[in-house]
Amino acid sequence: MDRLKEEEFIEEVKAANEITSVIGEYVSLRKRGGSFIGLCPFHQEKTPSFNVHPEKQFFYCFGCGAGGDVINFVMRMENMTFPEALNWLAERAGVPLPERETPAEQRAQKEREWLFRLHKLAALYYQKVLTATPAGKKACAYLEERGISSATAEEFLLGYAPDSWTGLVDLFQKKNLPLTAAEKSGLILRGEKGYYDRFRDRLMFPIGNPQGRVAAFGGRLLGEGVPKYLNSPETPLFSKGRYLYGLFQAKDAIRKEGWAVIVEGYMDLLQAHQAGIKNVVAALGTALTRDQAKALRRYTEQAIIAFDADAAGQAATMRGLDILKESGLAVRVATLPPGEDPDSLLRKEGPGAFRQLLEKSKDLFTFKLDYLLEQEKPGTPEQKARVVAAVLPLLAAEENMVVRDEYIRKVAARLEVSEEAVYTEWRRYASAQRKKKQPLDIKRKSRNTNDITHTAVLPPAASGKTGRKTPPHPEREVLRICLQEKKNLERIKEELSGIEWTVEEYKLFFTRLLEVGEEENWPPPASLFPAELRSIYTELRAENELGLPPGDLEGCCRRLRQLQLSREIRQIQQEVAAAAEDSPELQEKLALLNELHRRMREEFPSFSGLR
Ligand code: UTP
Ligand code: MN
Repeated sequence: MDRLKEEEFIEEVKAANEITSVIGEYVSLRKRGGSFIGLCPFHQEKTPSFNVHPEKQFFYCFGCGAGGDVINFVMRMENMTFPEALNWLAERAGVPLPERETPAEQRAQKEREWLFRLHKLAALYYQKVLTATPAGKKACAYLEERGISSATAEEFLLGYAPDSWTGLVDLFQKKNLPLTAAEKSGLILRGEKGYYDRFRDRLMFPIGNPQGRVAAFGGRLLGEGVPKYLNSPETPLFSKGRYLYGLFQAKDAIRKEGWAVIVEGYMDLLQAHQAGIKNVVAALGTALTRDQAKALRRYTEQAIIAFDADAAGQAATMRGLDILKESGLAVRVATLPPGEDPDSLLRKEGPGAFRQLLEKSKDLFTFKLDYLLEQEKPGTPEQKARVVAAVLPLLAAEENMVVRDEYIRKVAARLEVSEEAVYTEWRRYASAQRKKKQPLDIKRKSRNTNDITHTAVLPPAASGKTGRKTPPHPEREVLRICLQEKKNLERIKEELSGIEWTVEEYKLFFTRLLEVGEEENWPPPASLFPAELRSIYTELRAENELGLPPGDLEGCCRRLRQLQLSREIRQIQQEVAAAAEDSPELQEKLALLNELHRRMREEFPSFSGLR
């Protein structure tokens, strides 16, 4: 496509995707004057500094400096490249795609598109078997027995996979769909005697992406047996830990209510939805993952977990809770009566009982405290002391002093000990924690004061927002960190093994550092560096000595690993583009590309899109 057409296409896509409506799908926005504000999805914050300007079609975060147009936003949010984001938005708004320049992406996207269509076809087929064939009768009866109305079944596109080895295979064949390619959907498998259906004699729950496109299935046996639920395997469309069942049907309600309920199972979700509690998603039986938390965080800042009360559920809940909290969701926990799940409770006692339970949900701290009390049943002073000791780290996790005070009072009351006693223990704990961190602080300070006369020449990047907006080159920063302490060099050597350096000068410098790594004195003297590396050596030393902040070793290494991964992705994309149509080599490369993209999403969920 020529340049001019490309520009036109970009403008058309931008015009068709109003920025507040796109961002509004991820961030709860409030109107303020002529613009909208909300919590920035790109960094952790408690007070909103993220601004969206409908007039300029532009967003900007005063907290982290992220900003740009609607395409930049999607790139960051969905970890997409520019062309990926562009096409995604084009599709979202129904702007027809022009012929594109990158065959690699075109092919990967085409494949996903095709797999989505296959899933849609399968879902409609299962639905038809359920609603319009004699084979579906017993599944209908099962749904009735479980109290699921046909309206609910229709809304969630429920279906039935007949008791046949080739129901879906036959359908695909009838439609002349290539079975080898269809195998990638996970819906059919290849055996010795040919292809056969994965799902047989099961009630089918299509699992949709947030846009409502079917990406996978869960299938339940109509009776007893194992596995009770069979799920789609990992495919280019689906990974269990990344999906929340029912998110598409729930997202409007979640945004409107301002909070979400997280249940464990398919049936829990359907039953709640049917009872009019529509802001519900299901975690698909797994411990909650960061990706799931992130998916939810796009629609709300608050979630209530309503898992069943058995011990396993509790343990999973505890882990899941921290993950939710770390992702910026305020979490509450609703405890179900023993032996009940939301489905059974709703059926026995109705929506009122479930709503009440949600209303009585506890904040994270109280939930954990109650859990500890339940476990320990403290009677003796020693037992009480143990509970207090276990609670202290939980208190430390709370930053707000007023809230913490409240918690301390609660602990004292529940344990029937004096508030002073708990306070004293807390102060002791907090000061011990501070001591652990102190050596570093002292060092930093003395460095500053010793060189106080030099502070005037500190580069502007060392302070305030400018520094955050133009981060130092991570390779250079890593070198600076190496010079600070010898043990940093060791760490970095390990963290960056297998990573290629991109700037020749920095690479040479690092190699030299490794060579002089035996040096007693650290940083090693300038005389050990060849003339061509002296100027960078002097610069880095100066920055360290002038008291530039110590630098984020881990962050830099992470960033470099991330950049390496994007380079690998680009490389494979080129190879895909060069591979012959329909060659096994192409299949291999596509699989590798998918794998690399998956790794990128998994290891670097908040990838900034800087490729
Ligand atoms: P449960 O065993 O609690 O089932 O698993 P449930 O949701 O109450 O199902 P019903 O009421 O017996 O029909 C909770 C969730 O864990 C996942 C499913 O998502 C299920 O809804 N799961 C469970 C599986 O993926 N596979 C299994 O074999 C069992
Ligand atoms: Mn159940």
